Parts: sequence; C-alpha cells; structure tokens
Amino acid sequence: MLSHVIDLLADPVDGTALSGVDDYARLTSASGHSYDVAKQGYVTLAGGAGLKHQGDSAEMVQARETFLSLGHFAPFVEAVSAAAADALDAAGVPEDHDPAILEVGAGTGYYLAHTLDVVQEARGVGLDISTAAARRLAKAHPRLGAVVADIWDGLPLLDDTIDVISVIFAPRNPAEFARVLRADGQVITLTPAPGHLDELREPLGIIGVEANKLERMIDQAEGHLRVLGEPESLEFTMTLDRSAIAAQVGMSPSARHIEDLSEKLERLPETMTVTARAHLTRLGRV
Ligand SMILES: C[S@@+](CC[C@H](N)C(=O)[O-])C[C@H]1O[C@@H](n2cnc3c(N)ncnc32)[C@H](O)[C@@H]1O
Repeated sequence: MLSHVIDLLADPVDGTALSGVDDYARLTSASGHSYDVAKQGYVTLAGGAGLKHQGDSAEMVQARETFLSLGHFAPFVEAVSAAAADALDAAGVPEDHDPAILEVGAGTGYYLAHTLDVVQEARGVGLDISTAAARRLAKAHPRLGAVVADIWDGLPLLDDTIDVISVIFAPRNPAEFARVLRADGQVITLTPAPGHLDELREPLGIIGVEANKLERMIDQAEGHLRVLGEPESLEFTMTLDRSAIAAQVGMSPSARHIEDLSEKLERLPETMTVTARAHLTRLGRV
C-alpha cells in the first residue's frame, strides 16, 4: 500500500514530498501537483510529457507470473533476499527507522514480496514502467507501494531515503540510484551471466548473453556507485517442461521476434535440463 512508503515518494515534476489525500485516492505535493491513484492501487508518477515507453506488455507479465510461480528461480530470489538482509545488517539501520527497499523494474513483485517476507520490519517501493506489471505489484505484498515511472526520467523518490535498491534483470540508472540511496545503503543487482538458459538458445534461436555484460554495468556506474566485494556467481539447473519453457521465453521481448516459435517449442523434448546463470553484485555510493 502506498501509505507505507509515502514518506519516500517525490513529485516527478519538482522533487518535493508527496502526501496522500482523500484516503489515498490521490497523492499531492506541496507545490500543488496531483497524481491519481489507480483503483488497482498503484500510482503513475510521470512529469508533464507522460511516459514515453510502455515496458513489459500484459502478455509478457502474465508469462512472467506463470514461470515464476513454478518456483524454478527460487535460488535467485533467495540469494537476492539474503543479500538485502545482509545489506541492512551492514548499514546498521537506526531503530526509529523502518528500512526502505526499492526494487527497480520490479515486474510482478515476486522478488520484492519475498524480500519483505524475509525482512519483516521493511517496507518496499516496487517501481516499473509497465502498468500491466504495476497492477500485480500493487497486490504483491501489504507493505509494498507500487509506482509506475520511467527510470530514465529520474526516480520519483526523495534524496537519501532508500536503504537497499534491488535490480533484477532490469535497467539501471546509477546517477539516480546514488541520489536516492542513503549513505550506507547498497544496490543489489542480478544480471544474466554468459551461458544463462544456454540449452534453449539453439533450438529456439534466442540471443545469448554478451560476454562483458557485468563489466559494462560496473563501468557505467563509475562516478556514482562502486562495487563492494566480489560479484557472486549463481548457477543451478532446472527441469523444465514445454509449458514452463514457453512461459520462460514469453517473459522476454525476444519472443515476438522468434520465427515459428510454437513449432520450435513442439519439437522440444517433453522436459529439458536448463541451466540458469547470473551474477549478484553489490554496489555502494562512491
Ligand atoms: C526482465 S523484466 C524483470 C522483472 C523482474 N525484476 C523480475 O525479474 O521478475 C524487466 C522489467 O523492467 C521494466 N522496465 C523496462 N524499462 C524500464 C524503465 N525505463 N523504467 C522502469 N521500468 C522499466 C519492464 O517493464 C520489466 O517489468
């Protein structure tokens, strides 16, 4: 619910604080701007020109929900939640402050809801550009506030308010992360590693992960964020049947560009062993 995170949110036009009015039917800023809360419980915080992109479509969000609900990515979600709990311990969050977690590109809220279950005193902002995702995000956890925004337009959050930012297979804006992060806060990223889902590449014609993806992410953060410790390599195998594979492929925009996808899926064996690989990286303010 937005009431749990209202003290973190900022007017996207001028960065001033927001408050809930009419029982959270709207959020307004002291400077007079007003943002309607959708009946599903999320708020769109976009400046004058509105949103320029849409993010994941309703079909992709549905495929993501289907795949994640099967539990195949449990080792990823557990690693992210454990890293968030460690980051909060390391930061020594003051007793009078409920820790604040921001997930950027939060999708259906699968990861953030799990983290809020693990860190029981925390509240979370789930931010995504996709309204289809935000509808699910708003219902993902009682201590989660769902916000539709474009990270390239700046984050609609006050300076120095967030203890942990998690970014799972989603875009990053290091300058904005450094602005909203508290001094001892951490950014936790999960990025696909070379070889991720490799067994599906050839039979389905999916593009592979670039070899230097992690290095590029670290380079792009320069001047804003620095890597803390060594990135952790996560790797595990999953036994996926054809419907799980279809859902996995349907989560990504590449699904639309694969020729004869349904025929290719039908030619796969009943089940396949597929390897998941990612890097978990922790970053702090410079
Ligand atoms: C690959 S999905 C990952 C979703 C979620 N983190 C998960 O792993 O289940 C990337 C997400 O980032 C969102 N996204 C893409 N561009 C964005 C932007 N500019 N601002 C905010 N969200 C964005 C998409 O809508 C999508 O939900």
